[in-house]
Amino acid sequence: MQTAFAKKLGIETPIFAFTHCRDVVVAVSKAGGIGVLGAVGFTPAQLKEELDWIDAHIGDHIYGVDTAIPQKYEGKGESDPAKLVEMIKAAIPQEHKDFAAKLLADHGVPEWPDKNDEVPLSFSLAQAQALVDEALTRPKCRMIVNALGTPPDEVIKQVHDSGRLIGALAGRLKHGINHKKAGLDFIVCQGSEGGGHAGEVTSMVLWPQMIKAVAPLPVLAAGGIGTGEQILAALAMGAQGVWLGSLWLNSSEAHAEPAQRESYMKASSEDTVRSKSFTGKTARMLRNEWTEAWERPGNPKPLPMPLQGYVSFDCQRRTHRYAGVGECQKVAFNPIGQVVGMMNQVESCRDIMMRLMTEYGEAYERVQALMPE
Ligand SMILES: Cc1cc2nc3c(=O)[nH]c(=O)nc-3n(C[C@H](O)[C@H](O)[C@H](O)COP(=O)(O)O)c2cc1C
Repeated sequence: MQTAFAKKLGIETPIFAFTHCRDVVVAVSKAGGIGVLGAVGFTPAQLKEELDWIDAHIGDHIYGVDTAIPQKYEGKGESDPAKLVEMIKAAIPQEHKDFAAKLLADHGVPEWPDKNDEVPLSFSLAQAQALVDEALTRPKCRMIVNALGTPPDEVIKQVHDSGRLIGALAGRLKHGINHKKAGLDFIVCQGSEGGGHAGEVTSMVLWPQMIKAVAPLPVLAAGGIGTGEQILAALAMGAQGVWLGSLWLNSSEAHAEPAQRESYMKASSEDTVRSKSFTGKTARMLRNEWTEAWERPGNPKPLPMPLQGYVSFDCQRRTHRYAGVGECQKVAFNPIGQVVGMMNQVESCRDIMMRLMTEYGEAYERVQALMPE
């Protein structure tokens, strides 16, 4: 399994792993793919610490860093991160804060020990710029990827001037076309079944349209991939690689509490929902009492990004830290795609990579056997 885009990057296999976990980044890059660290939940100081660790453990392999600078968000014109955060906090109605706090209390979710801890959410250029600056100081970081929109022109120029590649996620055809017009180097095309922020069109329908619409720009196929057969299908359609997010969440390297893993392993593909209740934009996650509560008539509606992220952040960190306590899983933040229905065991990243490649080879042979003699 090799593509021109993978060769250009200098990786053995065109498997891209999106993850928030540094151990997964290192394990996938060492297994021949490339790990891409999602930086949206880190402060610049925390990102520095994560990248120091990755640089020290990844050997001669390379990695990427992912930011989330949306096309549209509240407070877009503000360039001072501290002022932006003050503005966001002041704009959140008390009703939303009370509603979120009651949901957590009703499900026995313990309080966070230090209320003064910073909220490290960077859904804005003002906050993400420092993350990009940090990533670009690292020679082994060879690509920047942005979620939720075309990155601003100044970021594209900054990344290109540093000699690296920059790409962005697209869940709609028009977003991919806009990325191409802006001069990006590749597109991650994510179908609706994928975990995290996702559009409406499924991978099977979106990938071939995107590949044709943005050609000759490389497209990485994302959304719903859990097997090597699916990778073969994506490459057969013309994708230059595959981008997987959910599958690594239950890898042995991922930082996940046992109760969280249990939620993944119990869930079927029908147990996810696209909901605005955590970030203010539609994202796919496990359906639970939190996602349902924000939909019920008479209850507060999710606020726009990035406000809702500040409403839900306490829920995110408390339900992760205390995943097995009380009824935490009933309100926990578990972004994941429909592929969760295939995630029934804990495997190491290396074993996942080996399995994907073996399945790919077997599927390739099956297809070859269908050819006339
Ligand atoms: C837990 C989780 C968090 C995610 N957060 C981000 C993010 O911060 N930035 C981003 O570019 N994509 C994010 N995504 C989307 C992934 O990059 C990827 O496109 C998606 O997971 C692919 O579909 P799959 O989950 O079916 O593999 C996230 C996905 C998951 C599962």
